Amino acid sequence: MSWNDRQVQMLRAMGLRLWLPSPEPSPEPSPEPALAPSSHPEPEPGPDAPGRGEALAPALAARGRPVPPTRPTTAPVAAPTVLQPAAAADAGALDWTALRQAVAGCRACGLCESRTQTVFGTGHLQAHWLIVGEAPGAEEDKRGEPFVGASGQLLDTMLQTLGLSRDADGDPAKRAYIANTLKCRPPSNRNPLPAELQQCAPFLQRQIELLQPRIILAMGRYAAQALLRTDAPLGQLRGQVHRMGGRPVVVTYHPSYLLRSPGEKAKAWADLCLAASTLEALPP
Ligand code: URA
Repeated sequence: MSWNDRQVQMLRAMGLRLWLPSPEPSPEPSPEPALAPSSHPEPEPGPDAPGRGEALAPALAARGRPVPPTRPTTAPVAAPTVLQPAAAADAGALDWTALRQAVAGCRACGLCESRTQTVFGTGHLQAHWLIVGEAPGAEEDKRGEPFVGASGQLLDTMLQTLGLSRDADGDPAKRAYIANTLKCRPPSNRNPLPAELQQCAPFLQRQIELLQPRIILAMGRYAAQALLRTDAPLGQLRGQVHRMGGRPVVVTYHPSYLLRSPGEKAKAWADLCLAASTLEALPP
């Protein structure tokens, strides 16, 4: 991957200090990261996090009717990668319109009581990239669109650095669809509860089936653990290409964590490069 002036500006906007090749012929620096798992401490620990993943995995596994088998092939830590439909929401046969309506009318968990509106997802319906975040925040709850607050600005900058946007039209190869594991805002932006993740999982599963993205970028541990059905810490999930039904899944930090810990942006950039190079290497 080579960088144009705009991408260099974007990388600087992400807060990254760049080493750029001199105009003289010299070895090109590789922006690609090592594939070895990172050993840094897990970010976004969250006060109510311990044990959450353990409760989530079996709950997701034990529910609903079968969906096409999706198994990670390269991740030693990840179990079969399936988001199973929950009894409360049989989304498996819905088209985009019906799915959006089902999400809007969902009352399967307590979050429906406190939400202003559901946040379905946004972007090109044939986008090659799917970005999965955690849950709507206050701004998203108000506007009904994912990642429109401060972390959304950083996400957009990250996408632009890769030449991507969330526009609903244009070249699908340059488009990202953005969705969350939860479609409703948890009160006071608290962490998602296992039951909420379980109830909402079929919606994201159906979005994946309808979109058929060529690559999935999971941002933050809730997205990564829900998609990969694991309780492994984020630091262990980063730096490798997981598989979900043959589709590559790359894990990176959540943008809100990057806002709190800007020193980690270089690692996030490495994750984006891993995703981009993985996608480039896929057969057409
Ligand atoms: N954080 C998320 O994970 N998703 C959003 O939509 C906004 C903030």
